[in-house]
Amino acid sequence: METKIRKIDKNRIDNAVIQEAGKVLREGGLVAFPTETVYGLGADALKEEAALKTYAAKGRPSDNPLIVHIADYEDLRKIAVNIPGETDILASHFWPGPLTMIFDKGEVVPYGTTGGLDTVAVRMPEDPVARELIRAAGGFVSAPSANTSGRPSPTTAEHVAEDLGGKIDMILDGGAVDIGLESTILDMTVSPPMILRPGAITAEMLEEVIGEVSVDETLLGDESEKAPKAPGMKYRHYAPRAKLVIAEGDLREEILAIRQLAYAAHREGRRVGIIATEETLPFYKYGNVKNIGTRENEKTIARNLYRVLREFDEEDVDTIYSESFAVQGMGKAIMNRLEKAAGHLRIAASAVVKQQRYRRITFVCGADTARAPMAAEILRHYELKQEYVIDSRGIVVLFPEPANQKAEAIMKSAQMTLEGHVSRGFEKENLQEDSLILTIDESQKNKLIAEYGQTENIFTLSEFVGSDTEIPDPYGKPLTAYGECFEILRGLIKKLAEKLDSLVEEEQ
Ligand code: TXA
Ligand code: MG
Repeated sequence: METKIRKIDKNRIDNAVIQEAGKVLREGGLVAFPTETVYGLGADALKEEAALKTYAAKGRPSDNPLIVHIADYEDLRKIAVNIPGETDILASHFWPGPLTMIFDKGEVVPYGTTGGLDTVAVRMPEDPVARELIRAAGGFVSAPSANTSGRPSPTTAEHVAEDLGGKIDMILDGGAVDIGLESTILDMTVSPPMILRPGAITAEMLEEVIGEVSVDETLLGDESEKAPKAPGMKYRHYAPRAKLVIAEGDLREEILAIRQLAYAAHREGRRVGIIATEETLPFYKYGNVKNIGTRENEKTIARNLYRVLREFDEEDVDTIYSESFAVQGMGKAIMNRLEKAAGHLRIAASAVVKQQRYRRITFVCGADTARAPMAAEILRHYELKQEYVIDSRGIVVLFPEPANQKAEAIMKSAQMTLEGHVSRGFEKENLQEDSLILTIDESQKNKLIAEYGQTENIFTLSEFVGSDTEIPDPYGKPLTAYGECFEILRGLIKKLAEKLDSLVEEEQ
């Protein structure tokens, strides 16, 4: 089947396109369309056969009921019965919008649509394309997310085409959706109403309007024995090709754990994926790191989650590590989807983080333009057993400068570079509990100790590796002096690398 793709702008809706798509639906066909949550796969909700087609296109088990989408509130009473009193006030607050409510079904709704249930899920979406399409189709459009069963819900028309191209009649391409996670599902047939699926309308928002709501206890937490009340929530919705593992702990520990795991994988020649945020991105050096959004605004994370998971399916990674997100507000829905994708695979970050005496190594010389940056760069070329943040500082740095040109020339001849280096002065923050400060000569060490009154983390490089070699200062001397200095540094750094790796063995 050829799938027609029609672009549509929700701010300037082309009525001819809506009528064309509406006709397809009225004739029993399938049209994917944007909603504010995710793309839906539309069919006529009142036709049994249309529901069957929907299940076939998605490859979805037919006991998993569909949500019926309406555009006008009066239409609710045509498909649902025993509608409780709180419905009006909920609808006035949250419809149109990302809330689905479940009621006893009216007779017109076929069991094909409700997966054999006597209840019907109803939603009134806000997206203007969705609303116009629903009206053009006759008022009742069933729409599951427009993905192949077992893949993340689509947040763009391209995602829909990836999964359903050739299997459905038409895709309305209205661009990327706004919210990115499926609607909140609220079961109105019980008292108090019960959240069966968390979404952008949170429990707190609902409670502000109608008082107490309950939450299906099977939602978060492990795959429990109890079946969730929304049949669709029981399926392991989506499992990425790679194993997805969520690190849990405080954010600092999560980052450390993921870094160590990514570094270990790197040393084994394996590629891992990392789900990070704007704020944490700079902390990761190894692995295929994707930015899912900013922790300042959880909506950005919701919007990107499915796209990022889809992208990882295209990439050569065997494990994906994700940071976790605060389980409040929309964070509940985010963690619910993420945990389902992970099949509830979690690791306690604190249990993974290996004890490591030193995590940062800072070389210190006078001006931070030659010897210390050279030492740092030579050390960075070692594949050490553990990952360190390696850099350099100067005792006296009046203004930032690039590396000394002769030093750079020598480094280049050894296939290394100091390009981009900018000299910086030593500061108090450079001295943390897990810092190893290695000075080039004795006088720098003494100055630091005099200033910070601390000796446990400060050594000369030679002293630390058990050598009595002195590192000459080539400043103002010819290139050959820089060459000699480089060779001495190289010898000492080799010993340093061995010593660092042997420390790791002692610790484990
Ligand atoms: O945001 C959304 O809700 C999107 C857009 C397209 O509107 N739709 C969506 O549909 O996510 P779907 O089919 O992927 O998920 C519907 C969920 C399933 O978990 C299903 O089991 C549950 O709603 N559901 C539908 N009818 C139900 C009913 N009568 N009782 C309990 N759960 C129901
Ligand atoms: Mg779905």
